[in-house]
Amino acid sequence: PAPLRVLGIESSCDETGVALVELPEGSAGVAPPRLLAHALHSQIDMHQAYGGVVPELASRDHIRRVVPLAREVLSQSGLGLDAIDVVAYTRGPGLAGALLVGTGVACALGLALQRPVLGVHHLEGHLLSPFLSADPPEFPFIALLVSGGHTQLMRVEGVGRYEQLGETIDDAAGEAFDKTAKMLGLGYPGGPALARLAEQGRADAFALPRPLLRAGNLDFSFAGLKTAVRTQLLKLEAAQALTEAARADLAASTQAAIVEVLVAKSLAALKGSGLRRLVVAGGVGANRSLRQQLDAACQRRGVRVHYPELHLCTDNGAMIALAAAMRLQAGLAQPSEAYAFDVQPR
Ligand code: KG4
Ligand code: ZN
Repeated sequence: PAPLRVLGIESSCDETGVALVELPEGSAGVAPPRLLAHALHSQIDMHQAYGGVVPELASRDHIRRVVPLAREVLSQSGLGLDAIDVVAYTRGPGLAGALLVGTGVACALGLALQRPVLGVHHLEGHLLSPFLSADPPEFPFIALLVSGGHTQLMRVEGVGRYEQLGETIDDAAGEAFDKTAKMLGLGYPGGPALARLAEQGRADAFALPRPLLRAGNLDFSFAGLKTAVRTQLLKLEAAQALTEAARADLAASTQAAIVEVLVAKSLAALKGSGLRRLVVAGGVGANRSLRQQLDAACQRRGVRVHYPELHLCTDNGAMIALAAAMRLQAGLAQPSEAYAFDVQPR
């Protein structure tokens, strides 16, 4: 068969991403898809003043960015519009208005080019994103999915064969980073800022809870941690002891609590499944402390850990094009020529 080229469009939250992925000629079922080009615009600067994503502003900015980004991807790849075989887009979960932009553009492009379109689950994009790295994983594996909206452990047998082993019962790991960062006055998105501040602090300075660490299951809970950090902050403020060093200590202690739980539960999932391969995906997968501690713990146990390329940890179009290509390659998806709008915010 001829190579199959999938254009992917991501617009679920505050990043507009477009990418072109190719399934090499005659590779059905074997060779991993190749990333031909990708372009990304982050709205972080725009939302920063508000301390979080403003949905209406997000939608409007996706509208401004998506077509120029698509042009950039085509010019990077040296290909024309007619090189696109399938147009993939993030169907959900995400902000409804934001999702509608990517979906609308994907369907319009498909209709104009007479090419089918395919909606992709955002989390499947994150989950499969390590397949675009220089060291792609092999099935089966355990996946730790840690983003701003989700925290899940999954057993992955193959494309489309996912068994959820555990998930958060309240806040997501990224949310825990973001909310505690906000309390520390670190702005939005707080995860990377909190991680930076934590580098200057002592991780054992404050005793913070490790929720559900010994619950004997693979579920997570981070809401209590947020409350504990707030209590510590109020105490420090009351004692006029909220120095720069104390803030760094609190950041380091918070990060340590989150990372310890993520590592322990990942190890428990590996042990319970007997698998020796772990894939980490989602924005929090960019966290250096998490990577160091997972690497160390897994090395001791003979477990291989796979991460997406750092720039593909957070939202992007490449993972959407990739997930679509892998579903098509596995014969699991039927792209549509109905060009109907169907976003699934939840
Ligand atoms: O996967 P993602 O880009 O978007 C969602 O689908 O949610 O993840 C964004 C989340 C945010 O909560 C952000 O603070 C967090 O990932 N994040 C980090 C780091 N980089 C991004 N958290 C901790 N350390 C980081 N280095
Ligand atoms: Zn995401």
